[in-house]
Amino acid sequence: GNVHYHEFILKDTNFTKLCSTKSALTVNESFPGPIVQAQKGDTVYVNVYNEGRYGVTLHWHGIKQPRNPWFDGPEYVTQCPIQPGTNFTYQILLSSEEGTLFWHAHSDWSRATVHGAFVILPANGTSYPFPKPDGEQVILFASWYKEDVMTLLDETLKSGGLTTSSDSYTINGEPGDFYLCSNETTYRMSVDYGKTYLLRIVNSVQNVDMFFAIAEHNLTVVGADGAYVKPIVTSYIMITPGQTMDVLVTAKQSLGHYYMLASPYYDGEADDFDKSMARAIFQYNGNYTPPSSPIYPTYIPGYYDIDSARKFVTQFRSLASAEHPVDVPLNVTTRMFITISIGMLHCPNNSCAGPEGNRIASGLNNISFANPAVDVLQAYYRNLSGYYNASFPDEPPNLFNFTSEDLTADNYTITSRATRVKMLDYNATVEITFQGTNIMDSGENHPVHLHGFRFYVIGSGLGNFDNVTDPLTYNLVDPPEVNTFPVPKDGWATIRFIADNPGVWFMHCHFDRHMSWGMDTVFIVKNGGTDETSIRPPPDYLPACSKNSLFGAD
Ligand code: C2O
Ligand code: CU
Repeated sequence: GNVHYHEFILKDTNFTKLCSTKSALTVNESFPGPIVQAQKGDTVYVNVYNEGRYGVTLHWHGIKQPRNPWFDGPEYVTQCPIQPGTNFTYQILLSSEEGTLFWHAHSDWSRATVHGAFVILPANGTSYPFPKPDGEQVILFASWYKEDVMTLLDETLKSGGLTTSSDSYTINGEPGDFYLCSNETTYRMSVDYGKTYLLRIVNSVQNVDMFFAIAEHNLTVVGADGAYVKPIVTSYIMITPGQTMDVLVTAKQSLGHYYMLASPYYDGEADDFDKSMARAIFQYNGNYTPPSSPIYPTYIPGYYDIDSARKFVTQFRSLASAEHPVDVPLNVTTRMFITISIGMLHCPNNSCAGPEGNRIASGLNNISFANPAVDVLQAYYRNLSGYYNASFPDEPPNLFNFTSEDLTADNYTITSRATRVKMLDYNATVEITFQGTNIMDSGENHPVHLHGFRFYVIGSGLGNFDNVTDPLTYNLVDPPEVNTFPVPKDGWATIRFIADNPGVWFMHCHFDRHMSWGMDTVFIVKNGGTDETSIRPPPDYLPACSKNSLFGAD
């Protein structure tokens, strides 16, 4: 493959949106950040200069980085933050990924403004498994906060409060003409009649799943998370933070202007979803009188439309062709059952603002992940003790009716805060069933994301997982192979993967609020017997683990 070099300058940049100006951390002064483009199998180097005010790390979301965890990026998992005034060069090894992925900051909530698309084209001599489109366009969703995200994170962690709703969502950096002071800057995609475009859609929103539709144009989904899927023809998509989709759209309607809408599926605070919808315009070139207003979709699922979300999400199938085979492990050597929940952490002297002086937290199997002072990878590789425990449980401590409507705010569980990781043997075949819970009456989808792998989603459903009947529904023939999947509200999902990538790999909910509250764990995949089945040697230079970062070690 080819080798590409990029320079990323991280610095604070002034932006005016929603009638107010703020300074936000960016890469090369742009929001969203630059598109990285390569071909399947290439190597990309990104030299990051941190000219900002606090430590930052970057992550190449969905790129497996075979045996190369040193450059994966989650803070205190595979590295310590790159401190202000220093630089660090990431080496990104592309392997089986092809399609659209993205890169983003993986420290505190810097992802809000530090992110961009990662486009991986077919290798020379190969092509898309669909007719070559006439044009391609990245469509990236993000959240915009008028306030500094560091202030918001600080408040959220201290109070356990819910400072989460953004002031707007954006499409390619712009809120669109629904919002004040945003009319002039609305993103416009100009298209020629008769042409087909490949939309490379990225959801980098902080905490909310999104529906997306283009008025009067069907969408054909052909890829997800850097792998192709059997085409899905649909009038809308549902996409969670951390998901990416390749979508074809043909411009074959009357010459005119059509809204592209991104609206939140569920936002803990929005009471009227119409008010929080980002809008862009799909605009035909040609000779015609521009309409006074673009055409609005006749249908886009409404706020909290669980049925429409499920209907879309369950349609995904791998290509399962000779060129794009599936390789679902049929025998399972390591089985886990993981509950996903919002819970409470005790505060010293009941000093917090939550119920009975506790603070809101979240957990996997009732454990809230705590960042260690030295990253797990370094501690593991150098045999440093005291930074993590290889004791992440295969099941939650107590089993109960996870999805009952009676689980109100008084039925919360107290989570324990610890750095507990799961060890996996090289080539273990792993099956994990995730069970969403309604603890504290706070059930919602959780987009679970795993680093270092793509996994097969072999089944999912609503309600409590039944280990006798539900496995009978598993798809072992053409399940989708993804890096992020929404475990449904009050429902379950089962995934499988082969632990063939030695390293230290983060797994977490891709809502930043939940991630910061501890809805995370780490897999350490042990080396196989040879150099080719072992973690690559570390680079000469890695950022030092100091305590200068605002919200890192504790
Ligand atoms: Cu998109 Cu852990 O990351
Ligand atoms: Cu979550």
